Amino acid sequence: MPSIDKPNTDAYNLATERGMALLETAATQVEAWLDQWPGWDLLPKHLASAGRYGVLGGGKRLRPSLVLAACEACGGNRTDAMPAAAALELVHCFSLVHDDLPALDDDALRRGRPTLHVHAGEPMAILAGDLLLTQAFQVLGSANWPSDVRAELMRMLADGTVQMVAGQVYDTLGGLPDTIDPIEQLRLVHNCKTGALIKSAVLMGAKVAQANEDTMQVLTHYGDAIGLMFQVVDDLLDVTQSEAHIGKAVGKDAAKGRPNWPDVLGTEASGLEVNRLLQLAVESIEPLQANGRALHDLALTMAVRTR
Ligand code: IPE
Ligand code: IPE
Ligand code: MG
Ligand code: MG
Ligand code: MG
Repeated sequence: MPSIDKPNTDAYNLATERGMALLETAATQVEAWLDQWPGWDLLPKHLASAGRYGVLGGGKRLRPSLVLAACEACGGNRTDAMPAAAALELVHCFSLVHDDLPALDDDALRRGRPTLHVHAGEPMAILAGDLLLTQAFQVLGSANWPSDVRAELMRMLADGTVQMVAGQVYDTLGGLPDTIDPIEQLRLVHNCKTGALIKSAVLMGAKVAQANEDTMQVLTHYGDAIGLMFQVVDDLLDVTQSEAHIGKAVGKDAAKGRPNWPDVLGTEASGLEVNRLLQLAVESIEPLQANGRALHDLALTMAVRTR
């Protein structure tokens, strides 16, 4: 794809509309897949019900959308990528359930509804989080891919998850290297806590399609850029949006003393950082040419999102 069109031009707005449509389609598909997944039937009813509450009925489903778009960009089949898309969303939802717990961010609202610990109690939320994380690997382990591809996908999801946990520790408990300046520290926290899983989503989609090493390299750069960009936008929404609009509490980063982009850089410079990362993402997938269109559109949509 050519480099990004200027904001608010017709081409830019059309790309963003296409990106929204991609998210909606992927959301419907992954929701149906997870809803019908037989794994729930193996569980005690109250555990299944808590797990389903944590994962069904809400969310932008960005990570599944990226899995599917990356798979198709590499010539793969969307249906083959569904278990990877579902597994990514299960890990993401686990991370949200635990992120909201009283011991971490202590939030009462998520996706416009009470958080799981408010809905089902803290012990169940902790255990349902454990469940969702493990189910992700159950899904990958039972997917119908060549065994070397399956093993690689499990490793990729594990890598992203381990980094996410490290990022959550930096964010919540500190421990960042003091040899780097505050902006680099912020970058490290956010690359870990948010960027890593987003990058795993892109790479896993490509791996299902058995993409070659060059393409994996291209997508690594894309995943790094949009992963960080996503968290800069999340931090901006925390200071610019209302709770009713984004379906979760706002102003909470400052309240909890969490390192946040607008605090460190200011709102305007954070907006410029979003544009810089978007430009990087879009340039990085130029080698994919027209096959990269969905990834291009999703990047734009994520940059301009308001929730
Ligand atoms: C929120 O993720 C947590 C972060 C990693 C910033 P999303 O903004 O993707 O949350 P949902 O899935 O749409 O609810
Ligand atoms: C959480 O970041 C990232 C995760 C790994 C879940 P935040 O704490 O900023 O996410 P929100 O704003 O609660 O969704
Ligand atoms: Mg948090
Ligand atoms: Mg939080
Ligand atoms: Mg946030």
